[in-house]
Amino acid sequence: MNILIAGANGKIGRRLIPHLVADNQRVRAMVRDPAQQADLRQLGAHETVVADLEGDCREALSGQDLVIFTAGSGPHTGPDKTIDVDQNGAISLIDQAKEVGVGRFIIVSSMRADEPASGPDALRHYFEAKGKADDHLRQSGLAYTIVRPGRLTETPPTGKVTLAPRLTEFGDITREDVARVLAETARAPLDHTEFDVIEGDTPIIQALTDLAP
Ligand SMILES: NC(=O)c1ccc[n+]([C@@H]2O[C@H](COP(=O)([O-])OP(=O)(O)OC[C@H]3O[C@@H](n4cnc5c(N)ncnc54)[C@H](OP(=O)(O)O)[C@@H]3O)[C@@H](O)[C@H]2O)c1
Repeated sequence: MNILIAGANGKIGRRLIPHLVADNQRVRAMVRDPAQQADLRQLGAHETVVADLEGDCREALSGQDLVIFTAGSGPHTGPDKTIDVDQNGAISLIDQAKEVGVGRFIIVSSMRADEPASGPDALRHYFEAKGKADDHLRQSGLAYTIVRPGRLTETPPTGKVTLAPRLTEFGDITREDVARVLAETARAPLDHTEFDVIEGDTPIIQALTDLAP
């Protein structure tokens, strides 16, 4: 399968590349800085492409079967950039994916995106932006999976998670385990599916199998 990763140079994106390559997927890594390309090829990406989510991404999307969106404006920008990238950048990529005929789209959203008021006030704009992008994907007509991790950490992976369409308790999950969840989701299509995910006791493959209808 041809897979475009948007946010390929991010902390999850970089971890995702080797998993997809090991699964014999063909990875096109999308970056906005040409200087990042050589490094991502070292990580195993078959192709790199330079494109900005705030611009035209159709060439980057062409010929792809699946998009995995794991981009984000990051914690060091203000609400404006969150709306530009996490919301409007995602929405624009969904629309362009549809336009060029990409059939599937996996988005890294966030727990609380469905209920922005349930989180801290300082992050309300972030959860709202994620929620609006998720809504757009649900209504896009694309085969989609919405992956909503809890707070991301850099701790070592466990390979075990708690995963469900809606979790009541907020929690942490290491980025490496999110990358593994994304790679498994790419392998075993869970279309028109969405779930919260935090660290837990169930092996990732089992947790995803349990979720399947
Ligand atoms: N932090 C949390 O606790 C948390 C919780 C749940 C979900 N999430 C979500 O998890 C996802 C990945 O997190 P992460 O830690 O891997 O993020 P990250 O390390 O900040 O990576 C984000 C990537 O997005 C890219 N990007 C930003 N603006 C872009 C644009 N206009 N065009 C193209 N690419 C752009 C960045 O490019 P550069 O490399 O050029 O900067 C970067 O590579 C994000 O969607 C985030 O919202 C985070």
